[in-house]
Amino acid sequence: MSFILAFESSCDDTSVAILDTDYQILVNLISSQPEHLEFGGVLPELASRLHMKNIMQLSQLALAKSHLELQDISAIAVSINPGLIGSLLVGLSFAKALAWSLQKPLITVNHLLSHIFANYIDHPELNPPFLALVVSGGHTELVHFETDTVFEIVGRTLDDAAGETFDKAAKLLGLGFPGGPIIDNLAQGGDTSFVNLPNPMADKDNYDFSYSGLKTAIRNYIQQQSPAFLQTHQKDIAASIQAAIVGPLIRKSIRKAQKLKLDKILIAGGVAANSALREGLTQKAKAHHIRVFYPSLQLCMDNAAMVAAAAIPKYKAGLFAPLSVNATSQKGTRLL
Ligand code: KG4
Ligand code: ZN
Repeated sequence: MSFILAFESSCDDTSVAILDTDYQILVNLISSQPEHLEFGGVLPELASRLHMKNIMQLSQLALAKSHLELQDISAIAVSINPGLIGSLLVGLSFAKALAWSLQKPLITVNHLLSHIFANYIDHPELNPPFLALVVSGGHTELVHFETDTVFEIVGRTLDDAAGETFDKAAKLLGLGFPGGPIIDNLAQGGDTSFVNLPNPMADKDNYDFSYSGLKTAIRNYIQQQSPAFLQTHQKDIAASIQAAIVGPLIRKSIRKAQKLKLDKILIAGGVAANSALREGLTQKAKAHHIRVFYPSLQLCMDNAAMVAAAAIPKYKAGLFAPLSVNATSQKGTRLL
């Protein structure tokens, strides 16, 4: 049996995981950084320093919990883009040092690709072709997979991302960061038609997204209401905002899957945790005989198990990285 030791440090979560090459998780440890909370967002320099502080201890704990020795590891995997460059460099430098000292192959992965491959951990029966909807804090993309290594971005946001819109709305409502899970919780049972919000780029043959107009409409609406009104109608306002963000994601993924004659849609990235997106897409896609897959809640968040999952096809194909490889903040889903 081969084992992959993987690192994820692209933003504010340090994570170390060990998976076997059948996508079974032996251990998946995540150390988040509550230190950023008081700033209402992630401070890049602080994130890098905290990764430095956490990564060694987390690695030792991962090995202890999996009852493996470093010599049992077959390959080292690490995400190298996109993300905060300082944070990525901490994970990459640590992974390179281990790969060099153990004389084991280094496998580099794209963070968004790893969000997509997180689905393989929960659904080992899954295989391409499929359409992946990637929705994170910084990305909103539709990616058509013909095989694990042949894919094409077939839709994308022209401006802001879906996750960013959740975060901005929560900030304007004074609800904290990150906004997605807070709005998701508040919206349960709320009236989705309470606030009339725009539905940009709605025309039939369009598979791109735009969230900047919606962000402005949300800001204008919130600024026009009294604090007492916002407080009383919090639930309905959250439900309306959530519906406006996930509506285009649901409609366009189904339309694109139909156009490409695909019968599987995967959801990936932090926003894949959203209950309205998971339930709405599953229900609406079913009517078109399209099956929807998404990772368990813990695997939607940034974690190293998904990095290992994305590294497994590369391990099997012998696609290893040289030790001279560098991290980049280049956006988008890519093979590297
Ligand atoms: O993938 P991720 O953990 O980090 C990036 O790679 O960007 O995604 C973080 C994003 C944040 O914008 C957060 O608000 C959003 O995922 N998010 C959610 C939910 N949980 C996390 N958005 C909507 N509903 C959720 N339940
Ligand atoms: Zn992510």
